[in-house]
Amino acid sequence: MHIELAENYGFCFGVKRAIKIAEENKEASTYGALIHNSKEIERLEKDFKVGLTDDHKSFKAGETAIVRTHGIPKKELQELKDTKVDVVDATCPYVTKPQQICQEMSEQGYDIIIFGDEAHPEIKGVKSYATHGAIVVTCADELEGLKLKEKVALVAQTTRKVEDYMEVANYLIPRHKEVRVFNTICNATFENQEAVRKISQKADIMIVIGGKNSSNTKQLHSIAHDNTKYSYHIEDENDLDYSWFKNKKFCGISAGASTPDWIIQNVVNAIEKRINS
Ligand code: F3S
Repeated sequence: MHIELAENYGFCFGVKRAIKIAEENKEASTYGALIHNSKEIERLEKDFKVGLTDDHKSFKAGETAIVRTHGIPKKELQELKDTKVDVVDATCPYVTKPQQICQEMSEQGYDIIIFGDEAHPEIKGVKSYATHGAIVVTCADELEGLKLKEKVALVAQTTRKVEDYMEVANYLIPRHKEVRVFNTICNATFENQEAVRKISQKADIMIVIGGKNSSNTKQLHSIAHDNTKYSYHIEDENDLDYSWFKNKKFCGISAGASTPDWIIQNVVNAIEKRINS
């Protein structure tokens, strides 16, 4: 069986940057999971003694708190600073951008609409910057019947599909006098999505590697699944079921933006060993 990696996959710029920041801050703690990959978080803990705290109130003055890649709510950041915690910001610059847009646009009197998942830490953070609140939607239908101002500003969760974002923008444009649409979808996601689309058109089985709660991995898996129903989302080689590979000739591999290379390599090695030897 032929095994091929997508042209773009795995760690993005923001995650590489956050990991480097964590490695440079030995014995600090991240507030919330730094990235959506528990295996990499374990490695940071083991090799760099970087801890993980889920409650920002448990940081004490003088301690170092690393802000997760997805960012945190504005109020919590302020509380950390007020408590004299040493804050090291590992928020991805592509996430800082929609935070700033929300703040600026709400100060200018726009209603803010965020296209994304309300429960995702990135969106909780982004929303908190909208000074007069924001509406979070996952599709255009959810906007039906809402009373919005004539001026609306739209931002997207960085990991969303461009096509879906366009649907929300297309819904708003004919209904409002002014619609400011900001392209806050990040290129890393886009490149990984394009590459998975391409390879899954040729592959007869697709393996997409990443944390089960990683939304960008889920997106990659959904794109792959559109092209081949034999598309599987796994966290690491232990999730492989070798019966999937029966009668398959081309295995495409992709991985989410927070999946480390060592996990990807372990998966490739495991498939090679079991199927190709
Ligand atoms: Fe940042 Fe994009 Fe990665 S938002 S964390 S570079 S997927």
